[in-house]
Amino acid sequence: MRLSRSLTPFVLLFVVAPAVSAGVAILRTDYYQKTCPDFNKIVREAVIAKQGQQPTTAAGTLRLFFHDCFLEGCDASVLIATNSFNKAERDDDLNDSLPGDAFDIVNRIKTALELSCPGVVSCADILAQATRDLVTMVGGPYFDVKLGRKDGLESKAHKVRGNVPMPNQTVHDIHGMFKKNGFSLREMVALSGAHTIGFSHCKEFSDRLYGSKADPEINPQFATALKKLCKNHTVDDTIAAFNDVMTPGKFDNMYFKNLKRGLGLLASDHLLIKNNRTKPFVELYATDEKAFFEDFARAMEKMGTVGVKGDGEGEVRRRVSCQTVNHSFQVPSRELKGFHFCERGDPISSRCLLFDVRHLLFDVLRLLFAVRRLLFAVRRLLFAVRRLLFAVRRLLFAVHHLLLCPYRCSSCIFSIRRRLLCISLDPSSLRHH
Ligand code: HEM
Repeated sequence: MRLSRSLTPFVLLFVVAPAVSAGVAILRTDYYQKTCPDFNKIVREAVIAKQGQQPTTAAGTLRLFFHDCFLEGCDASVLIATNSFNKAERDDDLNDSLPGDAFDIVNRIKTALELSCPGVVSCADILAQATRDLVTMVGGPYFDVKLGRKDGLESKAHKVRGNVPMPNQTVHDIHGMFKKNGFSLREMVALSGAHTIGFSHCKEFSDRLYGSKADPEINPQFATALKKLCKNHTVDDTIAAFNDVMTPGKFDNMYFKNLKRGLGLLASDHLLIKNNRTKPFVELYATDEKAFFEDFARAMEKMGTVGVKGDGEGEVRRRVSCQTVNHSFQVPSRELKGFHFCERGDPISSRCLLFDVRHLLFDVLRLLFAVRRLLFAVRRLLFAVRRLLFAVRRLLFAVHHLLLCPYRCSSCIFSIRRRLLCISLDPSSLRHH
């Protein structure tokens, strides 16, 4: 009780201006009730199957969602694949370790949904809903997921740095990123509780173990075990340790209890107990799991609304995989306060003219290819007819041969002038018939 009263000034920090987004207004929990009534069921079933097969999916997906939302909003831009013209977010070094299983679960759900209600559910909504279901599956709190996000149209690797926190940053710098997205210090600590599941690769915390920068505050037994685990990490960069060494697969408040005992894995984790402003929240969550769950659930619900895109700012990706945008032609639109997506023969803007010209060229090319294909088909048909005629001719010759070749001949052949020649047993005695 005394603890929560002492936190009162910090509670005020909870109320900070959220990252304003035009799309938030359209979000509703029942957004797909009419257009895709099986949405909840399809997501749940896919999540249960995947987490059963691959228990690391929950942590990976939670981190994927966080990295998506913190870079220009929850718009599934982190799922877009790199192409020859653009290096996408997911291929930046900081996103390198986002696990394939997290991408896979979103694509699996998208495929199932496209069969049930094609072109309706955005990849961003799938990621948000799957994350919630996975968190609850591993023991975390339930929170509402409002739906109706549109998928983003661009994904730039160079924008990742500065938007996604790194373990070697200060509390001040990390909080700067959270603040930019509308989160208070308390919410930042609650969200960091996500490190109660999943793992981190040795390179993320090896600085704390070896050399002059080794962290004296890390629990000595824990440090010894980590040194042993990571001794070959420079040759094998897949070696990783659990974020929560005590209950790694369970979503609980053990992460905060660990921090108090020097069992925090990342430098940024440990800073939360060292820093005077974040420490009270760590203490609270370590002793009161209910408080942690409530704050985490509220903060996650809020994270799902960061920078959400509405109509005119995004689209519903139509492919069964969430890694490509539908089409990329867009022009800035004052009327829509965002971007307008050009359609064929678009009357709305003369700026779409270029789009029409491009499409006209594509149409001409498509026509030329179609004509070429038609010509090939005609050629193939003519060859087939020719082969048929040859076959008929051979058949006629054979019949002719059978009828005309006298029984005394051992064989008959046609001469160059198509006259039947009889070959008798004595090849020298060729006679004309
Ligand atoms: C506060 C600043 C944060 C920093 C510096 C940070 C950094 C990291 C790093 C370096 C990893 C290890 C990645 C790897 O080696 O594979 C990691 C893992 C993870 N992070 Fe964070 N993170 C932060 C906050 C968050 C938040 C807010 C969430 C979610 C709400 C989150 C969710 C996770 C999860 C679930 C994992 C485990 C991933 C897995 O097992 O695949 N993190 N984090």
